[in-house]
Amino acid sequence: MKWLTSLTIAIGLACAPAGAQLTNTAPVAAQSNAAHQAQRDAFVSDLLRKMTTDEKIGQLRLISVGTDNPKHVIREMIRDGQVGAIFNTVTRQDIRAMQDQVMELSRLKIPLFFAYDVVHGHRTIFPIALELASSWDMNNIAKSARVSAYEATEDGLNMTWAPMVDITRDPRWGRVSEGFGEDTWLTSQIARVVVKAFQGEAPTDRHSLMTSVKHFALYGAVEGGRDYNTVDMSPQRMFQDYLPPYKAAIDAGSGGVMVALNSINGVPATANRWLLKELLRDQWKFQGITITDHGAIKELMKHGVASDPRDASRIALKSGIAMSMSDEYFVKYLPELVKSGAITVQELDEACRQVLNVKYDMGLFADPYRMLGAASSDPVDTNAESRLHRAEARDVAKRSLVLLKNRLNILPLKKSGVIAVVGPLADSKRDTMGSWSAAGLARQTVTVYRGIRTAVGNDATVFYAKGANVSNHKGIIDFLNQYEDAVQVDPRSPQAMIDEAVAVAKKSDVVVAVVGEAAGMAHEASSRSNIDLPQSQRDLIAALKATGKPLVLVLMNGRPLALVREDQQADALLETWFSGTEGGNAIADVLFGDYNPSGKLPMSFPRSVGQIPIYYNHLPSGRPYTPENPGKYTSHYYDEANGPLYPFGYGLSYTTFSVSDVSMSSPLMKRNGSVNASVTVTNTGKRAGETVVQLYLHDVVASISRPVKELRGYEKVMLQPGESRVISFTITEDDLKFYNAQMQQVVEPGKFEVFIGLDSQRVKQQSFTLL
Ligand code: BGC
Repeated sequence: MKWLTSLTIAIGLACAPAGAQLTNTAPVAAQSNAAHQAQRDAFVSDLLRKMTTDEKIGQLRLISVGTDNPKHVIREMIRDGQVGAIFNTVTRQDIRAMQDQVMELSRLKIPLFFAYDVVHGHRTIFPIALELASSWDMNNIAKSARVSAYEATEDGLNMTWAPMVDITRDPRWGRVSEGFGEDTWLTSQIARVVVKAFQGEAPTDRHSLMTSVKHFALYGAVEGGRDYNTVDMSPQRMFQDYLPPYKAAIDAGSGGVMVALNSINGVPATANRWLLKELLRDQWKFQGITITDHGAIKELMKHGVASDPRDASRIALKSGIAMSMSDEYFVKYLPELVKSGAITVQELDEACRQVLNVKYDMGLFADPYRMLGAASSDPVDTNAESRLHRAEARDVAKRSLVLLKNRLNILPLKKSGVIAVVGPLADSKRDTMGSWSAAGLARQTVTVYRGIRTAVGNDATVFYAKGANVSNHKGIIDFLNQYEDAVQVDPRSPQAMIDEAVAVAKKSDVVVAVVGEAAGMAHEASSRSNIDLPQSQRDLIAALKATGKPLVLVLMNGRPLALVREDQQADALLETWFSGTEGGNAIADVLFGDYNPSGKLPMSFPRSVGQIPIYYNHLPSGRPYTPENPGKYTSHYYDEANGPLYPFGYGLSYTTFSVSDVSMSSPLMKRNGSVNASVTVTNTGKRAGETVVQLYLHDVVASISRPVKELRGYEKVMLQPGESRVISFTITEDDLKFYNAQMQQVVEPGKFEVFIGLDSQRVKQQSFTLL
């Protein structure tokens, strides 16, 4: 982890706007953890002694400001000590006004904390999480979180509902966009980095934003990819593949955990004592706060594990929930539950202590206004351009784009001639930001069309035509526009729009079509049963293809899509996910070769929806299918090829690389020892470029089947044309561990295969034997 040491300094310097300073040295950093905790425990115990039962219960309530809770109602709650924290309030003025009410009206003046979904940016929107993961660059990812923490804390926030580290192997699930992909090892690395970057050196840092890792647990495995559905999973898969990223975030010090909405093997996470007490507290030693997801306590009745609201409140608290998000059950039912003894005072105190502890850690008892300063220092314009971090956002985004195809090196484009920019997403500011775009403003976002225009200036002619609506399906548009005017529908007929785009294409030397999903199609509650491009866009692409002009597809989407047809039609395909505020400029940087793409997919792209779940680290089958010798009774679909269209770890560059055979430091590894596996990577093309060298391992024979390949290391390297570099990986027993049938974490001796390559499929192979 050598980069971590230089991370804070590098990012601190990189993202501080003129005149501002990122303070990373903590007032409490000098104190030992133990001393800090002892002081905190004494303070909180003293406070608990002064609190009434109702005041303690009030601390467990987290509410969102909005129509359900207008400001005058919140004022009353604050006066009566009936609220512990607020989310969705994002300006210093609003936050200060509420903290003022606490200080003026409430008996004990216990400060509120303020939270928000700072998921991939705050005012400046960075690429979505899946795109950040595509960079395979921890400094890049950390930079996005550091800047987001800086901006959020400058607005007075204390906590974020992030990172979302749910492993998923199902692109039908809309929340794929919020996570870091299908790989446990990579996601765990990222989880660690993001938590540290958000939280900084110590919680009392001026720009430390406490994290609340989510959604604990296993939310990414909802059956059928349908949001809020059930999860049923073997213990091996749970511990081996799905739980490690949460553990990594907790080990990195995440102050909070947001509990998932799904059930796990029949028990909703919110009512899951095993999950929240035995695993999280007893085994993992988590000491922070557990917060429900939105309205989850109420949902215990719908899950069929609580008979009424009182029962739901009792079960949630007893199972290990401390704070309830967006429902009034705790405040309504806990008083009587405590009075009757169904909930003990000790249980209530334990929950309340969690809330008070994080407030103490945030430094709020020392100074409730520490994130706010004096009103006179408030920004005159919260959305001022000067508050954005455009350079950082552009840099992070360009490093995260993935080149999927580049026939005859059609890319990079020249900044001359005539370029047609078409497609429903080409000039859509809202969609370029992606879902969960926090306090980002569409109007401050650069679209691909704008980015291209700026890049070419007067050196090329750029034509624009929308070409199609995102979808012609009324039901889908109504769904997307249900809560906000998210998708603008062009009233012209589909044919009229296509005709206009074709006319523009015919006048041009090259067509850049920006197609994919509207941001709302890859979001919470946005599961799809079909992962093709919408038909309106397929029709547009077919018409553009028929013009015979070179066709570059710029894809904007929040999940792997099924792109077999587009792969055949397009000359080039650039996966840009949802790239945020500076998306259009970053995409132009890559399209014109000002930056040579270096991203790699963190999720397999299936050929069709029927292949799901499809993931590279699957177990072997007893009847494997081999294309060279296909047998009828082998594991395959008779109407679809096995394997993805684009594998995990895949991504092209404008240069080419070769990878030598793998050489091992020894064919044998001693117990508790290590071996090195190395390759020489050479830039065989004409441009400088980066690639990601990936190490995968396979335990050939073990007491249970082990995945055919598992990522255990990678290095992103920059090479000049003709330059070679030896990349060496040290393999230790830690890399070989797994849970056996008795759920013991073991390393078993025997043969291990070693694969090194530039994606999960094109690899060079070697082996060693663990003695
Ligand atoms: C989502 C969470 C989110 C919360 C607050 C819920 O519906 O599942 O991920 O943090 O809302 O906005």
